[in-house]
Amino acid sequence: MNNVIDIKGITRNFQLGQETVKVLKGIDLIIEKGEYVAFMGPSGSGKSTLMNLLGCLDTPTSGSYSLNGADVSTMTDDQLAEIRNKEIGFVFQTFNLLPRTTALDNVALPMIYAGKSKTERNERAAEVLKNVGLADRMDHKPNQLSGGQRQRVAVGRALVNKPSIILADEPTGNLDSKTSVEIMNLFDEIHAAGNTVILVTHEEDIAEHAHRVIRLRDGIIEKDERKSFQNIQ
Ligand SMILES: Nc1ncnc2c1ncn2[C@@H]1O[C@H](COP(=O)(O)OP(=O)(O)OP(=O)(O)O)[C@@H](O)[C@H]1O
Ligand SMILES: [Mg+2]
Repeated sequence: MNNVIDIKGITRNFQLGQETVKVLKGIDLIIEKGEYVAFMGPSGSGKSTLMNLLGCLDTPTSGSYSLNGADVSTMTDDQLAEIRNKEIGFVFQTFNLLPRTTALDNVALPMIYAGKSKTERNERAAEVLKNVGLADRMDHKPNQLSGGQRQRVAVGRALVNKPSIILADEPTGNLDSKTSVEIMNLFDEIHAAGNTVILVTHEEDIAEHAHRVIRLRDGIIEKDERKSFQNIQ
């Protein structure tokens, strides 16, 4: 089974008073293990809404979603939390780190929910921080780190439970272009190590890193392009 994500006819409406806002209007999408996908599209087209569904942070109004073969569209909140912790690493535009907590403890946090011992948590968090180039910043709190370093911590936190999918919603949106390149090199490495990477970006040069670019417009997929084999090499 190579499909990590298989969604059919997904819609998502939001109720605003009397009004029903139809945001996703029927999305069909298969993403295979090991793909590197970028979502693009105008502001308001539904990218974050879709990412939140893919990341099990939200559930669809209608349609089906199978994640690694498990039907998640009918799961309870508890079941979703468990599958999210195990299968998905999420990176946000605004880092979303705990402010008064060291880099090491921020990265170790998802392992608490996974029930790992303190020794195991600290060892693994240190290893992950080393892998994202922050071996010398483990005891720093977020306000003692640069934007790029904060995002590295967030990437480390996303990777710590060895998820099958990394989802990143505009991970370079708050970073300058040099730091963006560093973060994208990190995503390239994560992908090269065999992970499925899915990100949202407004920038074509960031999307260039992906092997497949999906463009959303007004809640539907407007274009879905895979790069040719030559381009990937
Ligand atoms: N909780 C909500 N209640 C009502 N409307 C919502 C809600 N969440 C999102 N929307 C609406 O859904 C539409 C899509 O929002 P979404 O955040 O998915 O866009 P986006 O493509 O990620 O845009 P951006 O590029 O600006 O991040 C917007 O028009 C937004 O107002
Ligand atoms: Mg968004």
